[in-house]
Amino acid sequence: MIQFQHVSKIFHGKPAVENLNLNIAEGEFTVLIGTSGSGKSTTLKMINRLIEHDQGKILFAGDEIHSFKPQELRRRMGYAIQSIGLFPHWTVEQNIATVPQLLKWPKAKIRDRVSELLALLHLDADRFRGRYPHQLSGGQQQRVGVARALAADPEVLLMDEPFGALDPVTRASLQAEIARIHQLSGRTVVLVTHDIDEALALADRIVLLDQGQVIQQGSPRHLLTRPANAFVRDFFGRSDIGIKLLALGAAGAHARKGERLPGKPIAAAMTLREALSEFVSRQTELLPVVDEQGRPIGVLHFRDLVKPAVEE
Ligand SMILES: Nc1ncnc2c1ncn2[C@@H]1O[C@H](COP(=O)(O)OP(=O)(O)O)[C@@H](O)[C@H]1O
Ligand SMILES: [Mg+2]
Repeated sequence: MIQFQHVSKIFHGKPAVENLNLNIAEGEFTVLIGTSGSGKSTTLKMINRLIEHDQGKILFAGDEIHSFKPQELRRRMGYAIQSIGLFPHWTVEQNIATVPQLLKWPKAKIRDRVSELLALLHLDADRFRGRYPHQLSGGQQQRVGVARALAADPEVLLMDEPFGALDPVTRASLQAEIARIHQLSGRTVVLVTHDIDEALALADRIVLLDQGQVIQQGSPRHLLTRPANAFVRDFFGRSDIGIKLLALGAAGAHARKGERLPGKPIAAAMTLREALSEFVSRQTELLPVVDEQGRPIGVLHFRDLVKPAVEE
């Protein structure tokens, strides 16, 4: 879907991105991660030509991105950023409808799409569509920003630290929503973050950047278990890599199916990292596991945390 071939971007004689090679497959959730100044935002903005690259080739759906008009690229790629950039004198509805308006969708279709997106992001359409950005909390503004990026059902969703300014609870719930939207829509997503836990929670593939270069790319599990060098190991936190690996597994996949146990159950979707916390805080070695409908599916054994799941 998106290909970088030997791409460089130079600002004032200094490369912000150097000889970047990247292959982003259709439907994949790619996370660009790295410390501040490593070139993440520059890489993202070169995809929709907010920044023009200096060397190499960037292909979108097989064609060099210079063969597209910037407006066309921006219509086909949603873009959401931390500082949101909602238009302050426009209502929520007008903000979300920015691209559909450009595309001259009929009024009724725009209205329906806005309602659909507000519902998707758990905002009550009747209450929120007429409000102005200053009448929303930070988390609600961020949701509207994401809704706007999704408005015309773009082929690619580009997000630059979209949850950066949020408190941990709001952040976790928006992360869960993005994961759900990605699963539902099957859209290609490229997300920039410096938050390792966010990357591990969302990514099919992580691209670790440092000083404008790719240090390593691969699945979260690959980077954690087979770090290319000491930088990668240190970046992911040498001492708690085991804990981070637990964050990749789900209780449901590790539970012993068919076993039953009374007591307060945990959800199948809970990560093994959270389950570890439950084991320790409840001082137990066994936890009953239920599915989304609350039906028992099995029992998670403490000792099974160190075994690979059947489904993985
Ligand atoms: N418009 C610009 N003009 C000059 N230098 C820039 C510009 N944008 C980014 N840079 C520089 O490029 C490097 C990478 O920046 P950026 O891509 O924003 O990093 P990140 O998003 O990983 O924090 C930094 O050294 C930054 O100072
Ligand atoms: Mg940045």
